[in-house]
Parts: sequence; C-alpha cells; structure tokens
Amino acid sequence: MSELDEDIDEVLIDAEQIQATIQELGQAIDRDYAGRTPILVGVLKGAFPLMADLARAIQGHAEFDFMAVSSYGSATQTSGVVRILKDLEADIAGRDVVVVEDIVDSGLTLNYLLRNLRARGPASLEVLALLSKPDQARVDVPVRYHGFAVPNVFVVGYGLDFAERYRNLPYVGTLKDSVIARA
Ligand code: IMP
Ligand code: MG
Repeated sequence: MSELDEDIDEVLIDAEQIQATIQELGQAIDRDYAGRTPILVGVLKGAFPLMADLARAIQGHAEFDFMAVSSYGSATQTSGVVRILKDLEADIAGRDVVVVEDIVDSGLTLNYLLRNLRARGPASLEVLALLSKPDQARVDVPVRYHGFAVPNVFVVGYGLDFAERYRNLPYVGTLKDSVIARA
C-alpha cells in the first residue's frame, strides 16, 4: 500500500476495469473513424493518463493535441465561463475531432469548449469522457464515448486531482474525510 493509497476511502473503479474499458473505447474509435485520421483533443490536466492509454488502444491513424482550460473561481463556475490557458496547435477546420475529458460533472466546461471548437469548422466533433456524474449534469452534453458513471461524490485518481494531488493513482476512488479536513 502506497502513501497515496492510504488516503483513499473507497476504490470505485479499479485499474483493471479502467484499462479494459479504454481498450473498448479505442476499438470503438478505430471502428468509427476507419479510413480517417481523427484528432484527439485532450483537456488538460485531467485527461493526461487517459490520453496516454487511449492513444495506445487505438490502432489506426490518429493525431493528438491538447488544450488547457480553467473555470473561473467556484463562485462563478455556474456562469460556464472558461478561460483557455493553452490552445490547440492544430487547425481543426474540416477535421474529425474527438474531445477527451476525464469527467463530465455539470457539463459547463465541456459545453463552453464544444461551442468554441464548433466555431472553428471541424468536419465532426464528438466527446469521449471516462467518467460522468449523471445526477449532476446541469447542461446536457452529448457524450459519444463513455466509460463509467460515478455517484455524486468527489473522486480522485487517474488524472483527477484534489489540490493537484492524486492524479497519478491508477484507479478512481474517494478520499478519506481526514485527508480532506487536513487540506
Ligand atoms: P464541469 O464543468 O462541472 O463538468 O467540471 C468538469 C471538471 O471539473 C473536470 O474536468 C474536472 O477537472 C473537475 N471535476 C469535476 N468533478 C470532479 C471530481 O469529483 N474530482 C476531481 N475533479 C472534478
Ligand atoms: Mg480539476
């Protein structure tokens, strides 16, 4: 048991389940984009482990790019105003784009991002999200490729952070109350 594992209350999705599902998602991308070269757009920082594993689950041609966004402070998060901290390098006009997200919670971040990307004239625009909190969804975001539904609790691991930590856990779980209180 590692130093990080000790802070986890409950493992919700273990590493094997995550890897098996990513293999399936990779196969779905291969099937749906056969003969084309999609651009996968990872939303930093949370999507970095997912992008790395998904990339290796895709056997056909694909390109990879990243964006970094930040929601304005939690008080204004409901506005759905998102700041682009790092933009794409690729011109996505006429391209097949798949946005890769760690988790869809309210959907506000993704909703903003999709509007922004759609304005650039991609041939197609789809979303892949490893996790979602369905009860929370305030904005209905069309997620074409989906991994797991998690309950309406704060989760960490596999890219998801608590105060920038725990992103490097290979599984998704909840934190002990004592850890949250300590912060
Ligand atoms: P949304 O705009 O409410 O959908 O928020 C999406 C973003 O909030 C995700 O990309 C995560 O970075 C973050 N987030 C939402 N729920 C959690 C969680 O349970 N743990 C850690 N980060 C989360
Ligand atoms: Mg975050």
